[in-house]
Amino acid sequence: MSTEEHYKKRYKAGDTPWDIGKPDFNLIQTVTTMAIMPCKALDIGCGTGDNSIWLSQKSFAVIGIDTSETAIHKAIEEASKTNVKCTFIMIDFLTNKIEEAPFGFAFDRGCFHSLNSVEERKCFAENVAAHLEKDGLWLSIVGNADEQRNYPGPPQRTAKDIVNSVEPYFEVLSLVSSHFGSNRPNPPRAWVCLMRKRHFA
Ligand SMILES: C[S@@+](CC[C@H](N)C(=O)[O-])C[C@H]1O[C@@H](n2cnc3c(N)ncnc32)[C@H](O)[C@@H]1O
Repeated sequence: MSTEEHYKKRYKAGDTPWDIGKPDFNLIQTVTTMAIMPCKALDIGCGTGDNSIWLSQKSFAVIGIDTSETAIHKAIEEASKTNVKCTFIMIDFLTNKIEEAPFGFAFDRGCFHSLNSVEERKCFAENVAAHLEKDGLWLSIVGNADEQRNYPGPPQRTAKDIVNSVEPYFEVLSLVSSHFGSNRPNPPRAWVCLMRKRHFA
């Protein structure tokens, strides 16, 4: 089953543990502490839009994209409730160029980590770089393979998996071991990786 089909099925079945109904604290912390200024932003695999909506509330001009129709409909509904200006588009990031590029900031929580091979992740990273302006930033929240677990959870990647996949397109500014924002008592561990597009990329 493709990644696209996998997620579509899970949204239809309501099996979406990543959907916590609020922005992930790692996004809030990074944007705040690293003083990332409002700009055009792309939320890749935005799901039901909580992170896009938070960025819009902070004056970023956000486009959220996702392959799941269910998720995009919910994101549009949520944005209209909160009265923010935020655009959501149903589109596959791997096979399309988002017309509104270049962006100053790209964000993904749980989309990049879904790709199983280093080749697919490299394509994803190259595509993120192609959507960013000079010195554009990418913040990715990724399942952390340092967590030993014997129950289901997000895909897990090592620090080396991340670095090998984003080189040579990105310079890693920080790679922090954290956990996913969650409503559960034992949230899965995560990597919070902030990167800057290299000049030649
Ligand atoms: C783990 S979910 C996270 C959703 C959201 N970022 C959040 O934090 O709630 C991963 C999301 O990526 C989307 N996705 C996976 N592959 C994609 C692709 N190639 N293009 C766009 N969206 C994709 C899925 O449909 C799903 O909504």
